[in-house]
Amino acid sequence: MTVPALPLGLLRDRLGEARSRTLELVAPLSDSDVTRQHNPLMSPIVWDLGHIAHFEEVWLLENIDGAGSGAEGLRGIYDAFRHPRATRDRLPLPDRATCLAYLADVRRAVLRRMERIDSHADTPLLRGAYVFNMVLQHEYQHNETILQTLQLMEGEPYAGLGGNRCGMEQGNEPRTGDMVHFSGGDVFVGTDDRSQAYDNERPRTRLRVEPFRIDRHPVDNAAFMDFIAAGGYRTNAHWSKAGLAWRARERAEAPLFWFRRDGVWWTRAMGSEVPVDPALPVCHVSWYEADAFARRAGKRLPTEAEWEVAASWDPVRERAVLYPWGDEPATPTHANLDAVRSGPARPGSHPGNISPLGCYGMIGDVWEWTASRFLPYPGFQAFPYREYSEVFFGEEYRVLRGGSWATRPGAIRNTFRNWDFPQRRQIFSGFRCASDAKS
Ligand code: AVJ
Ligand code: FE
Repeated sequence: MTVPALPLGLLRDRLGEARSRTLELVAPLSDSDVTRQHNPLMSPIVWDLGHIAHFEEVWLLENIDGAGSGAEGLRGIYDAFRHPRATRDRLPLPDRATCLAYLADVRRAVLRRMERIDSHADTPLLRGAYVFNMVLQHEYQHNETILQTLQLMEGEPYAGLGGNRCGMEQGNEPRTGDMVHFSGGDVFVGTDDRSQAYDNERPRTRLRVEPFRIDRHPVDNAAFMDFIAAGGYRTNAHWSKAGLAWRARERAEAPLFWFRRDGVWWTRAMGSEVPVDPALPVCHVSWYEADAFARRAGKRLPTEAEWEVAASWDPVRERAVLYPWGDEPATPTHANLDAVRSGPARPGSHPGNISPLGCYGMIGDVWEWTASRFLPYPGFQAFPYREYSEVFFGEEYRVLRGGSWATRPGAIRNTFRNWDFPQRRQIFSGFRCASDAKS
């Protein structure tokens, strides 16, 4: 049996497009902005640049002919495990020009290699173009990481990615505070796809989900300002024990980047100070803040299975769709992704972004915290390297779903699982609430 030929032309185009975005992101930055460490939570941007090149070198030049089982391969200064983000400013990092040359050199060699690749080779890495899709998604993910760094950067507003680049007006739909009901039943979560999906999304898993309700929309700034005004941060009963400790340590009184001016809430978004727009989904909250908000509302955070049902389950066809709107791959028309608006959008801005069950904005705008720890599905097998997912499984991390305004469309789908520590909020994180239902 022959396997379908690799779509080499398409892959070349995608690699080129991914690289243009990376270069576009850093083009407006000064040398000092790309070299300095802006926050201990983030790498100097030159580290991300060199690491993107190094990852591509490891997988598309060194490992591409192998099976890739367990080969980690990231070495030296770009080994993310040997060098945690906080210490990356102490590494002898090459400067911007050197990193850009490294990116270009690796890419030239990759394109040459693609000319003589056996496009019918049936190896686990090449089948379904998996290794190319993994390298593409790696660059996409670091593009969002770079945007997180730029959001933390002090000083002048970020000059890149100007304005509204999706050509769609902001919506002006009232956000309803209602919830969507799921009457419970057997569903599928996850996927068996071996072309795009990461190992942690596999295997497709049949689950019984108890009846639940979930917010139709993500929690917005208006609701979050209510929570603050009602003393939500000071009311210990809303907070978990770990949440209380975090709140004290952090002296948190509002989402990250918020500040008071003339008696109203403002925020700093990509370096610009703007009044908080009540209609936008709340962004830059930790899991602890999301959990406290939910408790005050008499609700809770959804489990990731509930979140995935709300995003994907089509009760009529009894199957999961790949995206809330169906099976067509994500674009910035479908959802607020790809940094086309430089921030979350108002409800109704992407009118088709509704799941079969009726939830809005499951993909795009803000990553949504779930109640779940980051754990393997039954039957999980690490592929192609343990360090993407497996070493992070455990009780410390919480799962986030759905991508943000800063996520590239190729790096998000209903089954995609992101994870971070519950105290983190420099990520583009928001949430929606859920509750148990009778039936
Ligand atoms: C999936 C976003 C948690 O940034 O740590 C990038 C993605 N893995 N390079 C991360 C990733 C390796 C990962 N997250
Ligand atoms: Fe990486």
